[in-house]
Amino acid sequence: MITIPGTLPKRLPFPELPGFISPEEKEEYQQRIKQRLIKENAVLIAHYYTDTAVQSLAEQTGGFVGDSLEMARFGRDHKAETLVIAGVKFMGESAKILTPDKRVLMPTLEATCSLDISCPEKEFTEFCTAHPDRTVVVYANTSAAVKARADWVVTSSIAVKVVAFLADEGQKIIWAPDHHLGRYVQRDTGADMISWQGNCVVHDEFKYEELMALKKTNPDAAVFVHPESPEPVIDLADFVGSTSQIINACRTSNKKRFIVATDKGIFFKMQQAVPDKELMIAPTSSETATCRSCARCPWMQLNDLKSVSEVFDTSGNEVFVDQNIIKKALVPLNKMFAFMNS
Ligand code: 13P
Ligand code: SF4
Repeated sequence: MITIPGTLPKRLPFPELPGFISPEEKEEYQQRIKQRLIKENAVLIAHYYTDTAVQSLAEQTGGFVGDSLEMARFGRDHKAETLVIAGVKFMGESAKILTPDKRVLMPTLEATCSLDISCPEKEFTEFCTAHPDRTVVVYANTSAAVKARADWVVTSSIAVKVVAFLADEGQKIIWAPDHHLGRYVQRDTGADMISWQGNCVVHDEFKYEELMALKKTNPDAAVFVHPESPEPVIDLADFVGSTSQIINACRTSNKKRFIVATDKGIFFKMQQAVPDKELMIAPTSSETATCRSCARCPWMQLNDLKSVSEVFDTSGNEVFVDQNIIKKALVPLNKMFAFMNS
């Protein structure tokens, strides 16, 4: 697989993380959120990587916790007039594209994603234009404008299936933006792919040597890995899959102990699914560690109880997407949903 030079800035704009919330504040924020959700005819939809208290509240209030694809579908099909998306910006944008008539709010629009940052629309369009013979497949972790330029949008749960289908049809592919996921998909499908060079700052930090060592001291534990991780880490996996697929595989596995290479936030729903099993996070640090995330996405962490409690009173946190971009981005997004139902 040919790759192109990456465009991820050397210094990423990591946000300042939220402060400590006392038990009294926690109680107050929870009550306020519950009341406001009812008053505003709103539903709270949270990603697995957000604060545990936010995930728990989404469940308690009739909302939803899930992966990026399930969040988009839940928001699209729910009757609430307002969707409160606790996640990162591309998730809010996907919700708006799928339901343009709904009000979509996020605790903060600063919650972005290193994959989205790595793939600016202008450079990506130039790249696509330079390869007009290739079908453009983009990961959901991209801006609405990049999706609008794509032929297909996929999430990690169906990337392999879609690319295998396209490769069977003899199509050559441009893949963006995660190069680890791109390599994983290419290896599995044998597709003719050229890949953008983005990466996820969380999964990119999982370390091969340290995982090997942890495996050796825990030979009974199965290793479950998200495909945004580096290739050597993926090679040590007993199972590779998206967030929801990892939880399901853990539920159906006959193993009792797991080493998991994805954001630690997933442990809340995973432990609910397998209360009698033991979960360990895969190692992120080594002697050469540059880890700023250490298995916690810095942007997902902006979604805490305080920011969610202020979501209706904050200005500048409603998601808007240009009508023309919505029209274009809907095409590959709907293609993905149709593919899943086929
Ligand atoms: P999922 O599509 O598995 O929810 O993953 C989204 C994400 O941001 C992974 O880092
Ligand atoms: Fe993006 Fe990685 Fe954070 Fe997921 S975990 S939102 S891919 S930076």
